[in-house]
Amino acid sequence: MERVWWKEAVVYQIYPRSFQDSNGDGIGDIKGITSRMGYLKELGIDVIWLSPVYESPNDDNGYDISDYRAIMKEFGTMADFDEMLNAAHENGIRLVMDLVVNHTSDEHPWFVESRRSKDNPYRDYYIWRDPENGKEPNNWGSCFSGSAWQYDKNTEMYYLHLFSKKQPDLNWDNPRVREEVFDMMNWWLDKGVDGFRMDVISLISKNPEFPDGVPGINGYASFNEPANGPHVHEYLREMRKKVLDHADTLTVGECSGVTLEEAKKYAASDNSELNMVFQFEHMDVDADGDNKWTDKKMDLRDMKAVLTKWQKGLEGVAWNSLFWQNHDQPRCVSRYADDGTYRERSAKMLATCLHMMQGTPYIYQGEELGMTNVPFASIDDFRDLDSINAYHELVEEQSIFSEEEMLHYLRYKSRDNARTPFQWDDTENAGFTSGTPWIMVNPNYKEINAMEQLEREDSVFNYYKKLIRLRKENPVIVYGSYNLIFPESEEIFAYTRTLDREKLLVLCNYSDTEQHVERPELFAESRCMISNCDVQTQENTVILPPYAAVVYYIEE
Ligand code: NOJ
Repeated sequence: MERVWWKEAVVYQIYPRSFQDSNGDGIGDIKGITSRMGYLKELGIDVIWLSPVYESPNDDNGYDISDYRAIMKEFGTMADFDEMLNAAHENGIRLVMDLVVNHTSDEHPWFVESRRSKDNPYRDYYIWRDPENGKEPNNWGSCFSGSAWQYDKNTEMYYLHLFSKKQPDLNWDNPRVREEVFDMMNWWLDKGVDGFRMDVISLISKNPEFPDGVPGINGYASFNEPANGPHVHEYLREMRKKVLDHADTLTVGECSGVTLEEAKKYAASDNSELNMVFQFEHMDVDADGDNKWTDKKMDLRDMKAVLTKWQKGLEGVAWNSLFWQNHDQPRCVSRYADDGTYRERSAKMLATCLHMMQGTPYIYQGEELGMTNVPFASIDDFRDLDSINAYHELVEEQSIFSEEEMLHYLRYKSRDNARTPFQWDDTENAGFTSGTPWIMVNPNYKEINAMEQLEREDSVFNYYKKLIRLRKENPVIVYGSYNLIFPESEEIFAYTRTLDREKLLVLCNYSDTEQHVERPELFAESRCMISNCDVQTQENTVILPPYAAVVYYIEE
């Protein structure tokens, strides 16, 4: 297997709106990020993935871009950006931009032109269709509720928007669109950025037949319907030749609806497309079919089966991204472990389980503190359009859930759980802003905050720091091959990693009760590389306290 820096790196995702405010307007900004570069260096991460900072009317917090070459005013200026990029590089940290090119904002000049008339030179930059029997051209749904088609009175046609109606989909079949995107990417690379996280890149190529899909609970087909379309690999190969081959980048494709077979193409080791993919199959383990609004808990056996499928399936042919959360997912300690009594221990357990797998780990801001879901009191506390639209659709329009039920699901699954301000210290607003924060601060900041954890040796922060350091010291963590053991256990996630003569045994207890595990004979003489609590062994039995995690190392 080829050894390269982006396989050995740890990526840290920053959601700028919620990271650090520097000017008291209640919104995180670029100067705020620059001021915290020392914190990131202390943690030891190698790469920042920066959620969008481009000019945007903020219908979807920056994922609706109106100018790809300008900085959102609330976040600062291009000079602030350059200063941040320099500061990152001076601290040995690379910076990867979020590339949102499945769609633009409806306020992007291309769309403003496109909607003017049928013969406008920009018309074909977007996807326009005539009505079908006076209705939408097909049953595709928007990710954010309702139809994916918006009728435009001016020309009496519909445009496609797989996300909000302020996020019209670009027409990648138009070579001029592709050239615009490639030029823009080269512009950022010339500035010195180190790669791209590509937003829903698996959706860029639409089936020209626009066939109906299977309807979900709201009556529309999933927004993922067009995933892995007919030309997606061709377009990414073109991007590789025209852009990526000329720079040393990290590229990660957000690939909703990707299958293992497709991922082998997107992230093939021959560098023909991208370095790695974000796949979401493990995020669906606790969904109810296509419906994410449920409080169903994952069955650990399903989680192990999915992650193992990806570990084994991509080995030697492509590369995995490892993540428990991002800005679209609730807090992992609340979702998969225990955010009460065992919060710290279980946060470290999840980290161990993930960081010891094969792939590049991603840490989402605050995960390294064990930040939790948020006790939102009412729908007025939410800011995310996905949550707000789903509430209106499923409670008010379709009466599928009662208000209380929906609030309960939102508190569990809403994206806003990940978007409350970073908890820096125990001063007002968690040290995030001197003004009024754009979204509520989680009231548990007095107990859970970076300042307290930096000083305490056994904190979640210091545990993440150790996991990152171990990865740098032990190639087996990066390159070792993975093998699941005890697949049937409902409480224990256990696997081995093997690289030549080096071996790891990873044991994680996902339950709140003590578990006894027979340690494979091979590891009888092994040493403990890391553990999140005191783990005893009796003969060859390992006694794992609730939410314990331990990694044993042996060189044969
Ligand atoms: C995926 C992003 O991660 C999400 O936050 C966004 O809303 C959609 N793509 C649309 O850009």
